[in-house]
Amino acid sequence: MTIYHLSMECYPVAKVGGLADVVGALPKYQNKIDGIDAKVVMPWYNKSFIYENEFEIVFDGWIHQSFHTYQVQVMKEKSNSLGFELYLVKIPGLLDRDNPYGYWDESQQFLAFQHGVLHWLSAMQILPDVLHCHDYHTGLVPFMVENCPDFTFLKGVKTIGTIHNGEYQGQMKWEMSNYFPHFDGWKWGLLDWEGYINPLACMIKCCHAFTAVSGGYLNELFQSFRGLESLIQAENKKAFGIINGIDTEVWNPKTDEMLTFNFDVKNAQEGKLKNKKALCEAYGLNPDLPLFGFIGRFATEKGADLLPEIVKNGIQKMHGAFNIIILGSGNKQLENELQDLNNTFTNFALDLGYKEHLSHQIYASADFLLMPSRVEPCGLNQMYAMRYGTIPLVRYIGGLKDTVEDVSSGGCGLNFADATSEDVIHNIDRALHIYSQKNYLKSLVEANMKKDFSWEISAQNYIDLYKN
Ligand code: ADP
Ligand code: GLC
Repeated sequence: MTIYHLSMECYPVAKVGGLADVVGALPKYQNKIDGIDAKVVMPWYNKSFIYENEFEIVFDGWIHQSFHTYQVQVMKEKSNSLGFELYLVKIPGLLDRDNPYGYWDESQQFLAFQHGVLHWLSAMQILPDVLHCHDYHTGLVPFMVENCPDFTFLKGVKTIGTIHNGEYQGQMKWEMSNYFPHFDGWKWGLLDWEGYINPLACMIKCCHAFTAVSGGYLNELFQSFRGLESLIQAENKKAFGIINGIDTEVWNPKTDEMLTFNFDVKNAQEGKLKNKKALCEAYGLNPDLPLFGFIGRFATEKGADLLPEIVKNGIQKMHGAFNIIILGSGNKQLENELQDLNNTFTNFALDLGYKEHLSHQIYASADFLLMPSRVEPCGLNQMYAMRYGTIPLVRYIGGLKDTVEDVSSGGCGLNFADATSEDVIHNIDRALHIYSQKNYLKSLVEANMKKDFSWEISAQNYIDLYKN
């Protein structure tokens, strides 16, 4: 069975968040299953260290968008060292950018990617068994396959859509239909949701099946889905929740080259302390205090706006009994606010930016990880934290609910109900009680490290879904 994963991100080629981790791992684990050939197709961006690898051009052609013509080149990575075949689609003028997102013409950019991929497959007469589309950026593919005469060759190919984040749907004005490959105009209703072209809604309508990245999140979408509730309810027979796994080869504290000290469950206390000492020294923190971490995008979804109060009120209320380190970037006002607090509170360290190495070091060094998310379709941070012996404090929603159980019900993490600084601070207090009981802390650290979050089961679940 041949599967093409279509995505804007894939670790280690280009990563903004968890989408990259998933697309960099799922195909690798699918390929371990007999008879499966999973590949990844993504845009060619300007920057990536993977370009040190050798590529061969496997396709060179042209697409037309409105009155413009663009060159499309598809490049295949030669070594196959990632565990899957990687194809990069280069469209000069539209996809050759520094980042996947944030451009004024991104609708056109995503359209070009989808158009370019389908043009390549049709022109080369490559017939996949499954086109697996990740998020709304590739959500128009199921529609295009069935309704664009240029891609008649692909008609009937099975399409799967995965919703990593339903907050983003990619709505665009109807004028943008001029940028589409020619399509059967009678089918316009499949593109439309409340007067706009809505790629995520279109994906749900047109694909053979769609998934959300956890069962918990799927259930939430039926109640609250930024206006798509009635659609998902109507299409519920096509909806499946499949929880993400983590790449346990990349995320292994025993072999992780990004750590200052490697460790495993047998020397976890000692190994974590060594990492913590190095990290605390680098950031001027006291390693004798319990260390809380936050890693993530500064977005309301992540509850990042609560961080200033958590830092300020938490440290004051607990009389400086803990340290906190925050790694992230996003909302500029929040960045400034945290920067000011960083100048005032010695128990607080801040690193603004995207730093893969530092994130690994924080997972390894911290005693606790904070995730006060308002929306968390799956969340990978809590699973990385547990794998590195760090106890997660998470809001009880979405994928967090499916992966972290509270100590009060026999689990190894802390759950809270509300995205408020009071609830988080109350749970910091609970965490400090755990920290003060060394044997209990040790048992939780070890139990977390032994949990199995690897992709094997979910990779198989996807294959079963394709087969059905
Ligand atoms: P999302 O995709 O919504 O941002 P996830 O929990 O699925 O959330 O995945 C986030 C991924 O991005 C994790 O691999 C996390 O370690 C990483 N990450 C987030 N922010 C940063 C940052 N500032 N520096 C390094 N890695 C980060
Ligand atoms: C999205 C979600 C996150 C999920 C990730 C990978 O970015 O916000 O919760 O873990 O996709 O599926």
